[in-house]
Amino acid sequence: SAGARDREPLELSALVDVDAGTISREIFINEQIFRAEMDNLFARAWLFIGHESQIPEPGDYFASRMGSDPVLLTRDSEGEIHVLLNSCRHRGMKVCRYDSGNTLQFTCPYHGWSYSVDGELVSTPGELFGVPQFHNAYGGKLRRENWGLVRVSRTVNYKGLIFATWDDDAPAFEDYVGGFMLWIDNLADTLAGVPAGTEAFGGVLKWRVKANWKFVAENFLGDMYHAATTHASVEAAGIGPAGANSSRHGTSPEALAKRRAIQHSTSFYLLGHGATDSAIEQRVPPTFADHPELTEYFADLFAKKVEIRKANGQHVGGHGPATLFPSMSFHSLGFPRTILVAHPISPNETELWRWFIVDKDARPDARDWLRGYYMRYSGPAGLTEQDDMENWDYATDASRGAVARRYDYNYAQGLGHSQDGPIEGTVESVHWSTEENARNFYRRWLRFAEGQSWASLMDPCSVKKPDVVA
Ligand code: FES
Ligand code: FE
Repeated sequence: SAGARDREPLELSALVDVDAGTISREIFINEQIFRAEMDNLFARAWLFIGHESQIPEPGDYFASRMGSDPVLLTRDSEGEIHVLLNSCRHRGMKVCRYDSGNTLQFTCPYHGWSYSVDGELVSTPGELFGVPQFHNAYGGKLRRENWGLVRVSRTVNYKGLIFATWDDDAPAFEDYVGGFMLWIDNLADTLAGVPAGTEAFGGVLKWRVKANWKFVAENFLGDMYHAATTHASVEAAGIGPAGANSSRHGTSPEALAKRRAIQHSTSFYLLGHGATDSAIEQRVPPTFADHPELTEYFADLFAKKVEIRKANGQHVGGHGPATLFPSMSFHSLGFPRTILVAHPISPNETELWRWFIVDKDARPDARDWLRGYYMRYSGPAGLTEQDDMENWDYATDASRGAVARRYDYNYAQGLGHSQDGPIEGTVESVHWSTEENARNFYRRWLRFAEGQSWASLMDPCSVKKPDVVA
């Protein structure tokens, strides 16, 4: 796919004219831009690594990724969590080739260097482990303390969700997230709003699509526009709890229309994250055609959450699909909660990872029902996800056409139709749907891709606030 334009010096700001609502197709296929994304964005931003419940015991590990780098999420004998580059310091071989497990140490399959779960190059008296032939081969002179696995600078465990950044200068995770934390809370808290009471179902679904990672991110950060067209067949088939004649989320078409009428608010964040906002009261609890006891169970949890939030004087919103900039998308709709991370492999290939989240104390029948629903909905075999994947693949392929490549995409929906949102730092559309979220994502994307300083990246004033309707 590399063309002459890949070798020309890049002028990124000429490709992304957010204020005019146009973006060049080039940013979805260009190799040079992809490299700038890896160096300037993925090696600096806070990224989601995994869920604490995946590594409950000392010695547990889960193999994850940060941009183009494979990493290991581990728990050491003291219970501390680490994120380590999964690459041997000798010649780079992966020191761990399993997806997850429990171990005393990682032994490199190439020449046998061994590392403890906290990343130290091991030294043991009998030389059976550690560096093979330490005395014969290195005269005992290798300074093992300098050759441990590369450790990620900073990690955060936020209510069981583990995030990490390579950048020592990155702002605190809470500052990076800003007012978007409400959506993260709705993902990480229980359905009734109890903090840190969730876990990930065992096993992460992983598959590759022939699509640029940004199409995935922007699909979840505010594109409510696609649902009625793209997912029409899913709605017709009735994949939700109430079966046919109901939405995917188990509510009647009338209830859905009512919600849309009040939910004009696709909120957007000056930090590049994006989400659709609706309050839990607006999300009619699901109706289960064959399990009335589950209808009652979920309605009760919804009611509890409203009660807790109101007692604490908190906004009851933040329920909707969302993307934490740059690449962690998730659903926190009310009852289904899933995470989708788009790991960039190349400009036109992305590895998608799906986690499914459930209350630790969920009733067994609710847990079983959710497991089935999650797989019917999301992941490579999920009906809704398949609809979306097809769009991302074709859009990426179309961006490569020699002629097609000359024509910009339209990101003008809702330009000039915004108002201040209910949460600090947000603006929302006066209409039900807007592309303000996507425009804002690309404003921040541009500043990252250009390699700007954190002061500039975190300054909302350097982002042009859209015309706010009085
Ligand atoms: Fe790991 Fe040589 S590459 S020991
Ligand atoms: Fe979709």
